[in-house]
Amino acid sequence: MDLFEKINRLKREKNAVILAHYYQESEIQDVADFIGDSLELARAAQRSTADLICFAGVHFMAEGAKILNPGRKVVLPDLRAGCSLSDSCPPARFRAFKEANPDHFIISYINCSAEIKAMSDVICTSSNAIKIVEKAPKDRPILFAPDRNLGRWVMEKTGREMTLWPGSCIVHETFSERKIIDLKTGHPGARLIAHPECEESILRLSDFTGSTSQLLKHVIESPDPTFIVATEAGILHQMKKRAPGKNLIPAPPTQNCACNECPFMKLNTLESLARCLEAEGPEVTVPSEVREKANLALTRMLEWSI
Ligand code: 13P
Ligand code: SF4
Repeated sequence: MDLFEKINRLKREKNAVILAHYYQESEIQDVADFIGDSLELARAAQRSTADLICFAGVHFMAEGAKILNPGRKVVLPDLRAGCSLSDSCPPARFRAFKEANPDHFIISYINCSAEIKAMSDVICTSSNAIKIVEKAPKDRPILFAPDRNLGRWVMEKTGREMTLWPGSCIVHETFSERKIIDLKTGHPGARLIAHPECEESILRLSDFTGSTSQLLKHVIESPDPTFIVATEAGILHQMKKRAPGKNLIPAPPTQNCACNECPFMKLNTLESLARCLEAEGPEVTVPSEVREKANLALTRMLEWSI
């Protein structure tokens, strides 16, 4: 309770705002000013008038906030909070692809570094990827980076051929097809809901696929009583809060582990959040030439997804 009070006091004193992703631990979600999926968080960061934006999420998200709102100080509770998907797209290899394929229109999933964003034509998130791909120029080949699972799913939905960067998320590739089939057999009425970063075998079984916010909305609005949830386990906190009557079953990982929890997201704790507000650091910065180019691609996404 003391930490909650300390965080709330620091927020007032420093005119700070806490933006949190759904994969943050429950206590962080409860103390945040705004919780959302990547698109909603980008919009919240862009319109924020706070002096200090404390991003309870991972590094690429905090970078995104800085790119969209460079006049604000952006801090991240733990600088080690990276992302396996973002790491699967190193800038040097990406630049080499771009140079070898100058005709390609490049659509990058928001889960990538500022440097990758700066080399992209437009960014997308899991909630607007279909819309963005549909708006891409029809006369140019597309490179979709870095998530191959989301890319394949969007290709199927839009009918648009794309070259897919071979990247993936360690959390969303953890779910076991066999265990999910067993669960569905044991719970005949249960609906499988999945994030599009999941593998094709899981998405084929899925009754509803969408971003974290879309999954949450689906659970709240659907008359179905039972859901098997194939995404990071943090989302269950909001699902339980906002759809209290529903029976929610986390999709089981292949191994006997807590691999459906993102180890990067979970580096942030209530303690590191309080320290970060107090010290106004670690700060996340983006060099201005990278920021300006990345801002074009991110702003284009926000315009195209209205
Ligand atoms: P969304 O919240 O946009 O669905 O993104 C999921 C994710 O993997 C964030 O790292
Ligand atoms: Fe990256 Fe996956 Fe963690 Fe999201 S859940 S931050 S995509 S590693």
